[in-house]
Amino acid sequence: MTVYPHVFFQDRWVSSAEAVVPIGSLAMRYGLSVFEGIRLYAPLDGGRARAFLLAEHLDRMGRSLQAMRFPDPGLSALPDIITELAERNDIRQDAYVRVAATPLNAGQLGEPALPRLSVTASPMGRKRWLNEGRSMALQISDRERGSSAVHPPHAKNIANYAGPRLAWLAAKEAGFDGCVLVNRHGRLAEAPTAALFLVRDGVLYTPALSEDVLPSITRAWVLRTAPTLGIPVEETELTRQQAWSADEAFLCGTGLEFAPVASFDGHLCRLHEKQPITRRLVIEYFQDVRRPAGPAPAQEVAGVSGRRD
Ligand SMILES: Cc1ncc(COP(=O)(O)O)c(C=O)c1O
Repeated sequence: MTVYPHVFFQDRWVSSAEAVVPIGSLAMRYGLSVFEGIRLYAPLDGGRARAFLLAEHLDRMGRSLQAMRFPDPGLSALPDIITELAERNDIRQDAYVRVAATPLNAGQLGEPALPRLSVTASPMGRKRWLNEGRSMALQISDRERGSSAVHPPHAKNIANYAGPRLAWLAAKEAGFDGCVLVNRHGRLAEAPTAALFLVRDGVLYTPALSEDVLPSITRAWVLRTAPTLGIPVEETELTRQQAWSADEAFLCGTGLEFAPVASFDGHLCRLHEKQPITRRLVIEYFQDVRRPAGPAPAQEVAGVSGRRD
């Protein structure tokens, strides 16, 4: 992945080659680093790319820090830093910003973590699923998404990705495009880096947050947008059998955006060619991401976070 040359690291603007994590840091020794992936979308009228759903991402990052018992490294500065990142790198195309709070201090496992902010960006357009009009063949893995008994599922910390990565590699080696992890009860949870939705008889279903999934910002967008399009949504418990007999399905997330699913474990979704509800949501999403930025709907954002996350 190409990284734009100017990055923010330890309170300074440096070149990406200078942003180096010390070998003895808590981050390197114990896999500690809380992060967010945020999309920048280029406006239709030209100009620099702007962050989409930034308030929601910052809210989730604050909750990740709290869950990991990291002090705040200065989240309130992030909106300005991200604007400056786009200016310094003159970003005029769709991009992906990674914000991380990484403990760079050396220490033993039980010592306090002192996170420092880093903010980097990479060019990122549509992934191949939307670009090439393809749908994913997914495997439902036997591997579990770590439960709240293992680590806080709502904390986006790098170590949480080690197990899901192994599930993903195994699925690819078995000839699938990706996988869905289960939770400790064997019910469907999410993909390694995306939320899961199934459609049956015109209704959208997604695992509830109590199913040990990350409170995905894109998932929350679907939950509040679908009803406005006349599509009922339900947060619930989902089984493999329900995936095998779905009409449609898709994965969604900030980086992935939307990826239609054709099959689970080789069982084709009934409407895997037409995918009417998935397509309707994708159209709405791309209208939304490029809407001119209006005044921040602070109450609405807080309300959404409160209800869904
Ligand atoms: C484990 C996991 N689930 C779901 C998602 C999708 O979340 P979001 O829509 O906030 O990007 C991500 C990506 O951040 C993720 O890492």
